[in-house]
Amino acid sequence: MTRIAIVTGASSGLGKEFVKHIDAGASGQIDEIWVVARRLERLEALQRTCGTPVRPFCLDLTDPASFEVIEGALGQTPGAEVALLVNNAGFGVFGNVAMQDKRDGGAMVRLLMQAPVELIYRALPYLRRGSRIINIASVAAFLPQPNLAVYSAAKRFILDLSRSLDAELGGSDIHVTAVCPKFMQTEFLDTPGDATAARAMTAIGFERADRVAARALRASRRGQSLYIPSLDMKAYYVASRVLPYKTALAAERALGII
Ligand SMILES: NC(=O)c1ccc[n+]([C@@H]2O[C@H](COP(=O)([O-])OP(=O)(O)OC[C@H]3O[C@@H](n4cnc5c(N)ncnc54)[C@H](OP(=O)(O)O)[C@@H]3O)[C@@H](O)[C@H]2O)c1
Repeated sequence: MTRIAIVTGASSGLGKEFVKHIDAGASGQIDEIWVVARRLERLEALQRTCGTPVRPFCLDLTDPASFEVIEGALGQTPGAEVALLVNNAGFGVFGNVAMQDKRDGGAMVRLLMQAPVELIYRALPYLRRGSRIINIASVAAFLPQPNLAVYSAAKRFILDLSRSLDAELGGSDIHVTAVCPKFMQTEFLDTPGDATAARAMTAIGFERADRVAARALRASRRGQSLYIPSLDMKAYYVASRVLPYKTALAAERALGII
């Protein structure tokens, strides 16, 4: 049996933190960590810091051929078991859709929605009792967000997918957790699109990527289908479930977030 943890978007930010915690034993016995991103040199640098064998995959997850590479690698690994899949790779473009580059929307849809779905399908034959999937959503998933329309809709998709998948697989002790962080100081905000819109939204505050990763792994081990790391965003989630959308939107406008 080869117990594998797959982490996408491992070349920086939250993904890198996940790898560090997995390497330190936060997900129990893991024989190999497969790290996926486009910047190979970053993955190789991360590999050198880990005690666990790390296998870098230099892949663009907006390209469907990438999924075949992962499927092929799983097929060629004797006794492969996907103990953990972390669908983390992502980027977001802030600002009005009308102002965005027309390539951004499709790329967000492919990376934030299609890639996790494709990787989940390919991991399914290799999941065993106790396996876990973590899908990185966002607090942007709670409500449709003007100035972050495609991103927030894509994160809603992954949030809903995670919860229904968890209900489907939970009976076999395979759990799927949607993680909804607020802002983190990563490379995510380096190329935000409309920087003014991005700055306004960061008024909700930041949390630390290393803590989000550690706590998300704990929540996933407990079998939680939804994990919201910060207390204020838990309250926001509850409000988003009870307030009419227009009221919530008016509140966001009054707070200067959108
Ligand atoms: N930071 C925040 O404020 C925040 C808040 C809530 C949720 N999130 C979510 O958290 C996740 C991690 O983001 P982060 O904050 O850690 O941002 P980050 O530092 O920019 O990391 C993004 C990761 O995704 C990878 N990636 C981007 N495009 C890719 C592609 N086409 N194919 C393969 N990999 C790709 C990047 O690697 P390469 O560039 O090397 O490919 C990088 O490793 C994302 O899903 C994001 O939506 C972030």
